[in-house]
Amino acid sequence: MIQKYRFGKPFETDAVVVKQPDAAVFGPDSTPAVPYFTVKKVDANAQTDLSVGRFGPSAAKPVKDAWQFTLDLRKGDIVYGLGEAQRGINKRGWLYISDNVDDNTHTETKYNLYGAHNFLIVDREDGQGNFGIFLDDPGIVRFDVGYTDMNKLIITASGLDFDLYFFSGRSESGKPYAITREFRGIIGHSYIPPKWGFGYGQSRYGYENEADIRAVWAGHRDNGIPLDAIYLDIDYMVGYKDFTVDTKAFPDLPALSAELKADGVRLVPIIDAGIKVLEGDALAQEGIDNGYFCLKEDGTPFTAAVWPGNSYFTDYLNPAARKWFGSQYKFLLDQGIEGFWNDMNEPSIFFTNDTLRRGVEMASSIGIKDYYEIDDWHKLMGSAFGTMAASQYYQQFYHMVDGEKILHEKVHNLYGYNMTRAAGEAFEELAPDKRILMFSRSSYIGMHRYGGIWTGDNCAWWAHLQQEVKQMPGLNMVGLLFTGSDTGGFGQNTTEDLLLRWIEFSIFTPLFRNHDSKGPRCQETYLFTDKKAFANMIGIRYVLLPYLYSEYVKAARNDDMYFKPLSFVYDSDPIAKEIEDQLMVGESIMVAPVVTQNATGRNVYLPEDMRMIRFRSGEDYDSEELKAGWHYVRCDLAEVLVFLRKGRLLPTAAAAESVSRLDEEHLRVYAYGDGSYTLYQDDGFSKDFDNPAHRKAITVKDGAVSADDVEVTLR
Ligand code: NOJ
Repeated sequence: MIQKYRFGKPFETDAVVVKQPDAAVFGPDSTPAVPYFTVKKVDANAQTDLSVGRFGPSAAKPVKDAWQFTLDLRKGDIVYGLGEAQRGINKRGWLYISDNVDDNTHTETKYNLYGAHNFLIVDREDGQGNFGIFLDDPGIVRFDVGYTDMNKLIITASGLDFDLYFFSGRSESGKPYAITREFRGIIGHSYIPPKWGFGYGQSRYGYENEADIRAVWAGHRDNGIPLDAIYLDIDYMVGYKDFTVDTKAFPDLPALSAELKADGVRLVPIIDAGIKVLEGDALAQEGIDNGYFCLKEDGTPFTAAVWPGNSYFTDYLNPAARKWFGSQYKFLLDQGIEGFWNDMNEPSIFFTNDTLRRGVEMASSIGIKDYYEIDDWHKLMGSAFGTMAASQYYQQFYHMVDGEKILHEKVHNLYGYNMTRAAGEAFEELAPDKRILMFSRSSYIGMHRYGGIWTGDNCAWWAHLQQEVKQMPGLNMVGLLFTGSDTGGFGQNTTEDLLLRWIEFSIFTPLFRNHDSKGPRCQETYLFTDKKAFANMIGIRYVLLPYLYSEYVKAARNDDMYFKPLSFVYDSDPIAKEIEDQLMVGESIMVAPVVTQNATGRNVYLPEDMRMIRFRSGEDYDSEELKAGWHYVRCDLAEVLVFLRKGRLLPTAAAAESVSRLDEEHLRVYAYGDGSYTLYQDDGFSKDFDNPAHRKAITVKDGAVSADDVEVTLR
């Protein structure tokens, strides 16, 4: 059952597409009553437990009054959700703030990351009174899940205007999985990328020109390492200006893109949120003339420094501006480009003219001219430059929606979502018969209909590999199915073993991209010693692709999860509830990646009997039957373990160098006993997902398989 409570006059976020009636409406002076929680009005600024902001206590709250919801938690209660948030699958024991931020050091003590996903589930220790809650509030929301008091869940809204939804689950009422499905049923189907988007992609902030791209292409093909995409980071543009191509570096992008495409490789350029301020520039002028940019209080465009230097910020909440920005992607679509990644869209802001001026003024007022001492800097200058966090800028510009001027801070978390929506809506018009690859850094619930996300600037740390595993179910709960991390780590120097282990997990993430920053050592797989190991490992992704793609599309169309915590499937198994480093992938398999350095195996918990398949490559594999319970299993570097459930099937193909070369006419199905499976297969481009011709029933009975061209393996 779904109950919706309206507080004040919320901003329409378009997160929910199946509109729900109001169970009650509460004005600022009401005494609200909602299920399970006690509600009170608080001065959000005054809360000591809330005195943490984006980068520390200095960030101000824009409002004095906010509704706060408090719930007593019992020892065994589990809290699931909050999307991209850091820490565990069980969110208990930390404070999470929905306040999208560009932060490139995701330590476990951070409160906020790039996305705001205000959906959580309370799974009671006795299973009674479980519920899900979605706070459709695009401002700064705080989820104190046992941070102030271990036994309390305290949710503080951004103010007095938002919608609050409660879910108790559709059929199997009260089970976290059923609650998730009920929530997913009202936010619309998830985005489905083209099939090549499931292939392996190589990226680095630092590829500067065509020669770099050709080297990456050759590096893969020469070493038999599969490849479907090479990503273009900001250096392909002229001065980091969106919708330009530096023709000195890329003299003929359409020809290059066609040549690569003929070999099954696509170029995927980045698009940044900020538009360069440039005298006489037609794009910038068009934006100004039509009022498409966010404005300051005085009605002039707000500008701030990001990669292009001083930049405008498109008002994506204004439908006309959104349409205008989306239409610009045509410039690259016309050059043979079929995929994009949207970046810096929290929006990330480095600094403004005002803060620079303030800093310089302060410097001269204290007599600092030619030099400064460290202590002077900290004592005096720190207050000028130290507060240059983006937070303060979010109070300095406005959106125009339906003739109403809205302070950015109040709708902050919608920015990246609406940039990606701009692109998604434009693709429907510009390329209606095609799927375009699209993923974003920043997001809000609802963006899953237009694209996926990557988890941003992680580091080449084993801790971050561990974190990525835990982030996946939360993202799937809010419909963000097309997800993945910067495999190998974006910041810091990776190592061959970390990259291999990361790939061991990323083989299962729908977005599978190796991305690296400018500073650290290069991490293209072919640069390391054991090139064959990388070729085999990435090859296994292609082996598994018939299953992974089928499970993805079915999850997207059925508003289901692709990655699930074990407890969503084995909901009465108390051990399954505590497993945070193993995941269910689709209906047939469980994965248990090795995520610690120098380990040659790990403990794995099997909630039921399973068949463990150990892949060294598509052709080199063996398997053994394992009984339910704990097992220590060996898993060397360059091995992938797949745990197949009894009665389920795993359809696979032979490894291929690109998705375009995958032979899906001849499949090998791994079985553990008799079983049946519905395989989704299509051309990978068109959008008739619900055409029954794309669904093929495969049945294995007594070792024999029902479908033609399918071989069954019980080995
Ligand atoms: C920040 C993004 O998170 C990263 O992936 C990208 O490489 C840099 N911006 C440069 O564009």
